[in-house]
Amino acid sequence: MRVVLHRVLMAPTPDSVSSEKTYPAPAVCVDSKGRDTPFTPVQTSGPFYPLHMSHEDVDNDLTITHRGAPRALGQVIYIRGRVTDHAGRPVAGARIEVWQACASGKYNHPGDDNPLPLDPNFKYFGRASSDEHGRYVFKSVKPSAYAPSPEGEYGYLAKDPAEVRPAHVHFKVYKDGYKTLITQMYFEGDPFLKTDRIVQALAPEKRGLVIIAAEWPQPQDEPASHSYAFNIVMEQQDMPDGAAGA
Ligand SMILES: [Fe+2]
Repeated sequence: MRVVLHRVLMAPTPDSVSSEKTYPAPAVCVDSKGRDTPFTPVQTSGPFYPLHMSHEDVDNDLTITHRGAPRALGQVIYIRGRVTDHAGRPVAGARIEVWQACASGKYNHPGDDNPLPLDPNFKYFGRASSDEHGRYVFKSVKPSAYAPSPEGEYGYLAKDPAEVRPAHVHFKVYKDGYKTLITQMYFEGDPFLKTDRIVQALAPEKRGLVIIAAEWPQPQDEPASHSYAFNIVMEQQDMPDGAAGA
């Protein structure tokens, strides 16, 4: 069941969630070399990129596997935003992939031996394309934090908080002429953000680009759902070093 982009993103927005607030211009940050850069930070893809996926049912709605199937478990979320270049110009036709754990914190991947249950009604992987304004949307459920460890302890059983990954959604974004971007989006307020090695490895000014606060659902969203605005800034292939800050 595909979430229709023009219905989701073109519908009127309440005063409290203006289009300007939902799709702000790219923030300007300073990279490790002291250069201004608005680019979404690159992060690891992790070990659980899907090995198998049915191309028939891959779309931008991860909450249902096929018409008539039960709804996936968990808090329904919408992740929506714009894909732009460093100057805020839309990148249309970008291919956006997402993958994540289900509400229990389990990935649908043979390498994840976490004993938490899989949700047979969750899709685990989604794909969308940005429209002519660079906009995209996914409907999903909020994943749980998880903690694989060599000792076989998982989830919240981990003794060391640094072993626990905060809830996150993996993103991979492709577009001809741009560097492929692999990153992760997090949820503001997650207690494990403070100890997660991957988050803490990001420059402090970059963390705000990938740690996103919940907003009220938009009028066309499901009641009691949460909305997250995650804007993505891609780097052009042929951009000289430091040009984005010029
Ligand atoms: Fe992950």
